[in-house]
Amino acid sequence: MLQELLPGISFSPSAAFVCLALAIFLSFVLKNILQYGSSVAVARLVRQFANGLRKLIFRRYLTFGKIFFDKNNAGHLHGVVISTVEKLVTRLSDLHYFFAGAFTLIAYLGIMMYISVKLTAALIFLLPVLNLSLAWIIPRVRRASASFSEAQGAMSKALFNALSCIPLIKAYCGEEQESEIFGRKSDEVARFEFGMDRNVLIVLPLQEVIMLGLVLLLVSVMAFIVARQGTARLPGFLVYFYVLRRAASSFSVVSHIKATLSAITGPLDELDGIFDDSGKHFVPSGQEEFPGLKSLIEFKAVDFSYADGPRILKRVSFSVERGQMTAIVGPSGTGKSTIASLLSRFYDSAPGCIMIDGRDIRSFTLKSLRRHMALVSQDTSLFNDSLRVNITYGLRPVPTDEALDTAVRKARLTDFVSRLPDGFETVIGDRGVQLSGGEKQRVSIARALLKGSDVLILDEATSALDTKTEQLIQEALDEMIGGKTAVVIAHRLSTIRKAHKILVVEGGEIVEEGSLSKLLEMRGRFHQYWEAQKFF
Ligand SMILES: Nc1ncnc2c1ncn2[C@@H]1O[C@H](COP(=O)(O)OP(=O)(O)O)[C@@H](O)[C@H]1O
Ligand SMILES: [Mg+2]
Repeated sequence: MLQELLPGISFSPSAAFVCLALAIFLSFVLKNILQYGSSVAVARLVRQFANGLRKLIFRRYLTFGKIFFDKNNAGHLHGVVISTVEKLVTRLSDLHYFFAGAFTLIAYLGIMMYISVKLTAALIFLLPVLNLSLAWIIPRVRRASASFSEAQGAMSKALFNALSCIPLIKAYCGEEQESEIFGRKSDEVARFEFGMDRNVLIVLPLQEVIMLGLVLLLVSVMAFIVARQGTARLPGFLVYFYVLRRAASSFSVVSHIKATLSAITGPLDELDGIFDDSGKHFVPSGQEEFPGLKSLIEFKAVDFSYADGPRILKRVSFSVERGQMTAIVGPSGTGKSTIASLLSRFYDSAPGCIMIDGRDIRSFTLKSLRRHMALVSQDTSLFNDSLRVNITYGLRPVPTDEALDTAVRKARLTDFVSRLPDGFETVIGDRGVQLSGGEKQRVSIARALLKGSDVLILDEATSALDTKTEQLIQEALDEMIGGKTAVVIAHRLSTIRKAHKILVVEGGEIVEEGSLSKLLEMRGRFHQYWEAQKFF
């Protein structure tokens, strides 16, 4: 055959064999080098893509409004960043095989064409038939993939829910119940996973059978031609046959990818959900720099409801003057914390507006607004990081050690810090030293003290403290507030006494407003609280 390919050069049989072996060896080396090169290139691309996508999703998460996070389970959001990206990446790596397969398939088809145009044309004509015979699987895989993603989300939700409520589960002996709930979700995932596997796995065997049928047909045609035209074309047919077998496996790879690719739908839908703007409750930043409070904060007929929930605030109007302390009192669940959240612009009110020095709060950039406000909120969450990081979080420039010491002293945390094994560097929170409710509040207070903003919002900042510690901290808070503008959601008489103005909130409305003496004179709701010495 070599003789045929290279006419005019004579080869001894052994030389021909060596040449052929060498050619085969070299072509394999070349093939593997190219294959390695392309695999590395693809792996690099895919990893870069995954990395970029993860960072993009995380950044995007941070732009969503707080309501989005109130409504969505953290476990699910966590799962999206980790598993959706992973699923996509796996499928993308499969693309590589597709391209490699397609490329070799084209090369093989070229050789086949060279040997017999008619046979190859007939085969190419038959290929779509093969494809069509597999087409029914694709929608099934796609459906299974979507249900699988959903089930997996539900499973990670259940898992996260259970793991974040261990004390509750133990206290109420919920172990059995939780095992059962998780078991059900896990069964569901397994069922869909297997459904997908079944659909994907059927492709290869089915293809093989159909291919065999085609090959047999082809062999018969060849045998027919050889019988009629003699054996002259036999070597060509043998090569054709060999190439066809290789082409068939490339074709399998190429068409298999279609089924695999349709399994990408689930994760893609998930991504679509993240990058779609609906339901994200964005709080858009304004354009102007907030220069700091000059004279007045005004709530003007502010209405508010969380997402599609009931009306929480009803035409709330009040004003806070610079340098004064405004106390808010009222039963729990009446919307006091919601007022604090609106002032920090975690949510936007509509209708109604909040004006600062005559400007709508929405016209200021979120960054500049929040820089001028220090919030000690009711639920004190901590990072799983050192105490230093937790106290100085987000403060620029980074406070000096002296400033840190002073704040910690004022927040009555010095003893606590000295008891920690590594002082300020001790890791607290999850998987670290656990803090009591009161200690957490004092960390928040120390952070607010360090921030030194001109507007302070304290939401029951000392509710978890014992009376003695509270009295001690109160001095620090008084000192911190001194001369600054403060909105204090209060539950103790001592705070209320010092307030310039007191707002009594009930059922999302301000029912009474005024100075302590005025409210007592009115003999209304506040007077009742006062008599009962109960301020929630
Ligand atoms: N993130 C939220 N999503 C939906 N409803 C909420 C949310 N936060 C609070 N609420 C509801 O709003 C009402 C007022 O809550 P809140 O302002 O925290 O009251 P308060 O601080 O006076 O105890 C409550 O009925 C509560 O159920
Ligand atoms: Mg509250």
